[in-house]
Amino acid sequence: MLFGKTILVTGVSSGIGARTAELALQMGADVIGVDRRKPAGVMGSFIEADLSSQAAVEALVARLPQRIDALANVAGVSGNTGAALTLAVNFYGLRALTEAVAPRLREGGAVVNVASIAGFGWRANLERAKDLAGVQGFPDVATLVREFGIPDGLGYPVSKEALLLWTFRAAHMPLFRARGIRVNAVSPGPVETPILQEFRAVLGDARVESDIARVGRAGTAPDIAPAILFLCSDGARWINGVNLPVDGGLEASVAAEAMGF
Ligand code: NAI
Repeated sequence: MLFGKTILVTGVSSGIGARTAELALQMGADVIGVDRRKPAGVMGSFIEADLSSQAAVEALVARLPQRIDALANVAGVSGNTGAALTLAVNFYGLRALTEAVAPRLREGGAVVNVASIAGFGWRANLERAKDLAGVQGFPDVATLVREFGIPDGLGYPVSKEALLLWTFRAAHMPLFRARGIRVNAVSPGPVETPILQEFRAVLGDARVESDIARVGRAGTAPDIAPAILFLCSDGARWINGVNLPVDGGLEASVAAEAMGF
């Protein structure tokens, strides 16, 4: 499915990004990994970059090859460093990278955004998500967070709500659609990676434990990576603008409860 393809994977030095890169390499792809930290082992080629500013994104893009088949946006932070940095990395940095990489994505290529079950509230918070996703360019995120009154504890879910809404919209933006580039999201539930301990601190143990209890266990990075790579592949060529929950049924359970059945 991915033999000979070039896949750009952010967040490659840990957890879901690391497993995505490893599996893509096993499937015969060339992987360009990006992270703010160096990976422990050798995994394709690697570019160190911090995706929290426009300047860093531009410097990264200048080092990328002209032709890329798919971009897997996996890098993310938990929210424990405040709402501004969380929105900068999880949404505005991701979006800036994706828009800058778009001209290098081959016709029919793919973008996969790793969102989260934490973004489930995008419908309930639609106006805020629309406004945040509607801000052009890479804003001064600290000012934006103040203007929107987003407390630090909400930075993570708000970032993922904006990301989901933008994913649906991007699938129809000429920048992507005119060249047949598909834009989809994958939304994990709790996954046993280093970030999960941080979620426990930000969201509380009870919330994390209740999510795990609904589906019997936490996910693992190997549970998530195949879904990301499927959406990167031509096997998903008619799948565009979707959010694929990869969570053992957690979103179905939460949605059923929210709809009262
Ligand atoms: P992780 O903490 O193991 O990996 C995240 C990676 O992103 C790290 O290697 C980190 O260095 C990198 N990163 C963070 N900020 C960066 C920046 N400014 N620039 C470049 N790289 C940066 O966490 P995990 O679980 O692999 O998370 C991957 C994605 O999955 C994230 O977007 C996260 O929000 C999402 N997710 C994770 C869940 C979980 O329970 N583990 C649940 C739902 C979504």
